Amino acid sequence: MTIEVRELAVPAAYDDGTRAWATFAEMVAVRNAVMAHTWDGDAATHAITTREAYGTASSQEDERLVYLGGWLDGRLVARGYVELSRREALHVAGVDVLVLPEARRRGVGTAVWRAARAICEADGRTTVQAWVDHRPATGPAIPAPTGFGSVPADAPEVGFLLRQGFVLEQVERMSELCLDDATAELERLRDAALPHALGYAIRTWTGRTPPELLDALAALHRRMSTDAPAAGLDHEEEDWDAGRVERIEEVEERRGRDMLRAVAVHEATGALVAFTTLVVASPDRPIYQHDTLVHADHRGHRLGMLVKVANLLALAERVPHGARVMTWNAEENRPMLRVNEALGFRAIGYEGAWQLVRGSSWPDGLPSSA
Ligand SMILES: CC(C)(COP(=O)(O)OP(=O)(O)OC[C@H]1O[C@@H](n2cnc3c(N)ncnc32)[C@H](O)[C@@H]1OP(=O)(O)O)[C@@H](O)C(=O)NCCC(=O)NCCS
Repeated sequence: MTIEVRELAVPAAYDDGTRAWATFAEMVAVRNAVMAHTWDGDAATHAITTREAYGTASSQEDERLVYLGGWLDGRLVARGYVELSRREALHVAGVDVLVLPEARRRGVGTAVWRAARAICEADGRTTVQAWVDHRPATGPAIPAPTGFGSVPADAPEVGFLLRQGFVLEQVERMSELCLDDATAELERLRDAALPHALGYAIRTWTGRTPPELLDALAALHRRMSTDAPAAGLDHEEEDWDAGRVERIEEVEERRGRDMLRAVAVHEATGALVAFTTLVVASPDRPIYQHDTLVHADHRGHRLGMLVKVANLLALAERVPHGARVMTWNAEENRPMLRVNEALGFRAIGYEGAWQLVRGSSWPDGLPSSA
């Protein structure tokens, strides 16, 4: 049995017919097969297209992304991914390791993880974080130190992460909304919220943010990075400006996705005080709910509910039947969960946020990876 781990080159262009492209596409297929296995064969919901994967891989201005392949006896069976932020939290890295079900328990995951860890070390990263899907289970559970949520103790990914020294820091609830079931309720929720939001106007758009709103939206993104509950996860305020907002919109375009935005404007000052974002790939694929924030000075006016309702109504116009929206929220984030539960979101899984800090179970003086 031979295990080989190599860094994968990002192809110079989409589907350019090169060997690098063939391996990149094979890596996406490995990722999708693992996700389908995790979700009981539901390949359609959790798969990504090569266009989406390439849109991510070819956008490296705000973070450096390194891809790893893991070969068992000459066959690609694993993929690793290392995310190295370039603008803030320069000591923190994100890592993900996936191994095809039929190739597990042979040390491939460990080999890919060690290669990922070596990349983190070479880049001076001292904290590594991993966000991992866990299906709901009825057996023994490991509780989050926040006191909210847990992950199944006997799941493979949990055994693997504990073995590598990671600690569970936070649990996010993964929820889904079937928009057809919610549409009738949305207008009622909006009407109930509006009297609490006198003096605010709601505005929506699709695609690029109007230039005059870019700076204000960047300021809200900056707040998002400090205001969202992060439990014991090491993080820093993110360095947002208008250019960074434009870059994330360009990336979504390159992935072939549309962004739907809803914001709240404080009419007396013209300030942008709340925003929410939906990302639409195609009508038959899940729609992703991204960040939602109400500025701290403007909370208590039901603006979170109002921007979400406005964006969902805009989505219902665009995808009149069968839209499914997926969202992730910290299990301790009751204000956001209360809004989502009222809208009709239901839990379908959990995501564990795991962390490894150098000097604890990640000893100094590595590599120990030989
Ligand atoms: C987690 C995953 C990457 C492990 O890959 P793998 O190739 O099986 O890992 P290894 O063979 O190197 O296992 C290393 C150690 O992890 C632990 N481990 C792995 N699978 C386990 C399981 N099913 N139950 C308990 N412990 C397990 C064991 O300690 C194992 O050592 P051992 O086999 O000597 O007992 C794989 O199960 C996977 O792809 N899961 C889905 C994706 C995912 O959740 N990834 C999260 C990691 S970031």
